[in-house]
Amino acid sequence: MERFYITTPIYYVNAKPHLGHAYTTTVADTMARFHTLMGADTYFLTGTDEHGDKIVQAAESNGQTPKEYVDVISKLFQGLLPDMNISNDDFIRTTEPRHVKVVQEILQKVYDAGDIYFGEYGGHYCFGCERFYTEKELVDGLCPDHQTKPEYIAEKNYFFKMSKYKDWLLDHIEKHPDFIRPEQYKNEVVSLLESGELEDLCISRPKSRLTWGIELPFDADYVTYVWFDALINYVAALGYPDGDKFKKYWPAANHLVAKDILKPHAVFWPTMLKAAGIEPYQHLNVHGYWLVEDTKMSKSIGNVIEPLAMKDAYGLDAFRYFLLREMSFGQDSSFSEKALVGRLNADLANDLGNLFNRTLSMTHKYFDGIIPQPDVEEIVDAEIKKVGQGAMKSFQRNYAEFKFSRGLEGLWELVRGLNKYVDATAPWTLYKEKNTARLSTVIYVLLENMRKIAVHLWPVMPGASEQMLEQLGIAFDAQKINLSKELDVWGLLESGSVVAQSSNLFPRVDPPEEASPKKMEKKPKKSEKADRTDAVAAIEFEDFQKLDLRVGTVMEAEKHPEADRLLLVRVDTGDDEPRQVVAGLADFYAPDDLVGKQVVVVVNLKPRKLRKQLSQGMILAVKTKDGMQLLTASGEVPAGSKVS
Ligand code: ME8
Ligand code: MG
Repeated sequence: MERFYITTPIYYVNAKPHLGHAYTTTVADTMARFHTLMGADTYFLTGTDEHGDKIVQAAESNGQTPKEYVDVISKLFQGLLPDMNISNDDFIRTTEPRHVKVVQEILQKVYDAGDIYFGEYGGHYCFGCERFYTEKELVDGLCPDHQTKPEYIAEKNYFFKMSKYKDWLLDHIEKHPDFIRPEQYKNEVVSLLESGELEDLCISRPKSRLTWGIELPFDADYVTYVWFDALINYVAALGYPDGDKFKKYWPAANHLVAKDILKPHAVFWPTMLKAAGIEPYQHLNVHGYWLVEDTKMSKSIGNVIEPLAMKDAYGLDAFRYFLLREMSFGQDSSFSEKALVGRLNADLANDLGNLFNRTLSMTHKYFDGIIPQPDVEEIVDAEIKKVGQGAMKSFQRNYAEFKFSRGLEGLWELVRGLNKYVDATAPWTLYKEKNTARLSTVIYVLLENMRKIAVHLWPVMPGASEQMLEQLGIAFDAQKINLSKELDVWGLLESGSVVAQSSNLFPRVDPPEEASPKKMEKKPKKSEKADRTDAVAAIEFEDFQKLDLRVGTVMEAEKHPEADRLLLVRVDTGDDEPRQVVAGLADFYAPDDLVGKQVVVVVNLKPRKLRKQLSQGMILAVKTKDGMQLLTASGEVPAGSKVS
């Protein structure tokens, strides 16, 4: 059986969790769920890093002992997990005896093998990073991460002979090109290693300076340097050296970190493992930073986004979708609520939500909610199946490589493809023509593809996915799903079962309020007003908001049977069926010219009859002396997109 072991960094407990932590943990969660559905036996570890100077300082400034302080903050990190629907199997704290024991075992092992020596060292120490910097690594004499001046410290300490493993590490990276990924980070590590000597690593702190740490097993006057302590959590949690979990999962180890801690994970950790006689991990997966207004979000800068506030405002699943869809794994990404709202409305409300709403409601209208038996097939069915296979393949291949954004983009080919399939097959016409044989197939093809989409979305939006499946009459069971089989299997959705009446999982959301520019409210000058003969009275913003304007695609158009100047235009405005609008366009357009065009429609105009024909809305146009121009968006948008 395939196995998959995923870890997050163990977070420092010197401040509350923020969006950056929530992101990494969500990525680990989505990967654990993805591999579970791909049929792998997965194990997912997260935890907290609780030793070191940083923690002591934070505790002191809070008037607590380190132990009191770490207990409180570690609880905050643990509390975030259920709120974000995180499916971790274990949570490790470096203050737990099971961790301390393994750190001491490994130290002793490496010491006995002769790879730890005692020596004197002077270096530039950054308390923020908990590490010494070489002269070369400083930027204008400052820590590159914290922009603070490190303290020069000289003292006797224990050192790990890291330098000894440089060639081995370079060789290992060369032989396993995706050991560190994406590639830019591998290149960074290779050039760091090739640029000069690799230094030995100072792995102790004298107790005269720091007592809050794990005592060295071979010298009671020293505690372990926090990084040598922390990295070992990844094997300690599995019960190294004899635990079953260690045997099962370590060969499938995938670490996940942001680029701030690339060097400890890409250089310290593999060389430590090598010295301790442990196989290297499989992959180090490195992502970029979430930025706020182009600056790294960080607790020391104080520009943090609170994940729970976002979840409360927009819903957990929508928030998770945004994080995974927005960031290209490996690159930095700016966080803004405006971008979040844009994505939710476009991808979730318009594309996915609309597909579910309209299909469920058609199933009720045409088949009393009962999933029909597919019957007559046409070429479009084979075509959409192919789109589906391509979309699922793209999702799975990209997801396996941590390329979430691309994977979701791939899957959305199917979501959008299905919305187009509705327009192309026009189920409302089949219904009118009583073509049940064909209508059954169309509805079945839609529902079966929606099932496929819903199972693929479980790693991304577990709650929403389970609800989507429930709406299709299916109880979620991870054991029964195999994503890789979905590419070839067709027809798992059972005809005869009943679907929900409606979906409404992803309502449209309003953009966050922006400060209203007061100056704009200035009244126009008298003279200006007089010039504009057709000016109408100013309205309140609330009145404007009452208008529901949508971009729709013209599906059909024909002459009004009783009025020469009018056309009957049927527009897909994202509802179950196209709406008919009676429009005075006959002098300017032949009916066929309109088909396929996108137009702006006032959809909440009270329906009325114009010369006996029902008109549900109004198409917006500009009349000039030369003719008529239809209003449209400057590029194609999904049918039903709101104008705002
Ligand atoms: O470094 N964008 O803990 P830490 C994206 N204890 N991710 C971010 C982020 C941002 N702006 N800010 C933080 C430590 N992160 C050590 C790790 S592991 C053996 C020891 C995430 O609390 C990201 O995963 O400083 C980053 O690597 C991690 O939080 C750093 O967490
Ligand atoms: Mg940090």
